Amino acid sequence: MKTVFINCSPKKRFCASAYFLSLQRLFTGGKKVTEKLRTPADHARILEQLRDAQAVVFSLPLYVDGVPSHVLRFLEEMEAFCKRNDLHLSLYCIANNGFIEGRQNEPLMQIFENFSSRAGLNWGGGVGIGGGVMLNVTRILFVVDIALLLVNTMLSAANTGNFFPRDAWISFGENAALLLYFNLGVLFYLARMGFSIRRRAFAGKKYTRILIPSFVFILFADIFFVLISLFEGGLFRGWLAKKEIEEQDA
Ligand SMILES: Cc1cc2nc3c(=O)[nH]c(=O)nc-3n(C[C@H](O)[C@H](O)[C@H](O)COP(=O)(O)O)c2cc1C
Repeated sequence: MKTVFINCSPKKRFCASAYFLSLQRLFTGGKKVTEKLRTPADHARILEQLRDAQAVVFSLPLYVDGVPSHVLRFLEEMEAFCKRNDLHLSLYCIANNGFIEGRQNEPLMQIFENFSSRAGLNWGGGVGIGGGVMLNVTRILFVVDIALLLVNTMLSAANTGNFFPRDAWISFGENAALLLYFNLGVLFYLARMGFSIRRRAFAGKKYTRILIPSFVFILFADIFFVLISLFEGGLFRGWLAKKEIEEQDA
């Protein structure tokens, strides 16, 4: 069985959709192909991948309570392609949004359900994830934790000859457990959907979120967005990003 995973975030790097898609891949068996949908230039390549696939998984951000416009354009072409080639894939959807409530993805889910019925596909259901931006940050924090552990181990080995600094490992374990806890809802529902994808069965529509209380989320989100705005849209996408448009007035 072949499953095509489509990352529909328009961002080039560090997108939450890619994170959730990679988790979903872990829980799905058979042949797996991952595609990136950003511009119309991607359409033909992705449609060709769908020709011999049995399932397709869209992972995308919620934009203004709906589907990003570049995805809508692709769905129009996909509908015609599936009808022309008599394709009846099973379609699954992972939607993530910036606000904390995953249930805000419900209108987007309905759009994919209606699309499936219109294009003659089997609607397989999906997972709506709240706090997508923050969950995406947890994976970056995990990498930072691993880097810190390595540095501490090297320093301890160099200074005392001890390759197993106990305190550093305990601190790493605590941080990793906390980050894992934040992601538990997502891991549970994606694992569950992976089981359905393997059987091409209906997974239902499930909603989850980062597992922290809303008042903590609001506090951290406020701090996060103040920092992001200071960095003009993020450290990587802001200050460090290559500027595509040259200053014309210089
Ligand atoms: C144009 C635009 C519209 C958005 N609309 C919503 C929205 O209606 N509700 C919401 O909770 N988040 C909204 N967001 C936030 C995104 O859904 C959120 O940042 C998501 O995690 C991005 O996923 P990605 O990193 O995979 O692109 C919007 C973001 C953008 C850029």
